[in-house]
This record gives sequence, structure tokens and C-alpha cells, in this order.
Amino acid sequence: MTIQTENLQSEGNMEENKYTFVASSDSVKEGEMIDVPLGTETVVVARVDGAVFAVDGICTHAYSEMVDGELEDHCLYCPLHFACFDIRDGSVLEGPAVTPLSVYDVLEQEGSIWIKALDIYGE
Ligand code: FES
Repeated sequence: MTIQTENLQSEGNMEENKYTFVASSDSVKEGEMIDVPLGTETVVVARVDGAVFAVDGICTHAYSEMVDGELEDHCLYCPLHFACFDIRDGSVLEGPAVTPLSVYDVLEQEGSIWIKALDIYGE
């Protein structure tokens, strides 16, 4: 599922921290993930054990789209060669990938999910 990003950086304290609204909380259900276009990047946003995580949406091995993979507990499996990345920190748990996925700081409050997008926008 792809949702359109609404850039709401001007809201309250989000402006100082450069957080960008990416989804409503109820659109990321337990054990599921969505992909979100953010600038020129795609970010996968997932919920595991109630917590929301955000990682780069493109596999570091051969550029497959991670949202087409499977999420099992904290393991995000790439759909192409089945590397397993830890959704919490992007680390590689099983190859063939060797480079971790980039991770983004996530803030969930008042029914909204925000990502700190400094890396994406290069600010
Ligand atoms: S493209 Fe993801 S493991 Fe090969």
C-alpha cells in the first residue's frame, strides 16, 4: 500500500525537528507495513509489538522494493533474495545483503506518525 505524503513540517514542535507527517496511526496495523514516498526516497513504515519503525524502502543488495517482502516479528525479508533486515535498526540478520538499511527516527503521537527526514532532504 502506498500513501501520499503530506508535508506538515510547520506544525508545532515538528518544525524545529524537521519531522514529516507520513501516515495516520491506524493505517499501520500491527505486523504490517506500508511504503511512503518521501522526497526522492521510499520509506517502509512498519508496526511491530506496538512500536512503529521506518527504514529505507530499497534493499541494499540489489535494489528490490522492501514493501513487497514479508515482515515476520522484527525481520523484514527482502522479496528478491530473502535477506533479513532487523526493522528496529536496519541491521542485516541474514544475507545475502551485507549493508544495513538506513533507519529513520519515528515519532507517533495523537494518531499520527512522523519521520525525522533530515537525511532524506539533506538538511
Ligand atoms: S535484492 Fe534484497 S536480498 Fe537481494
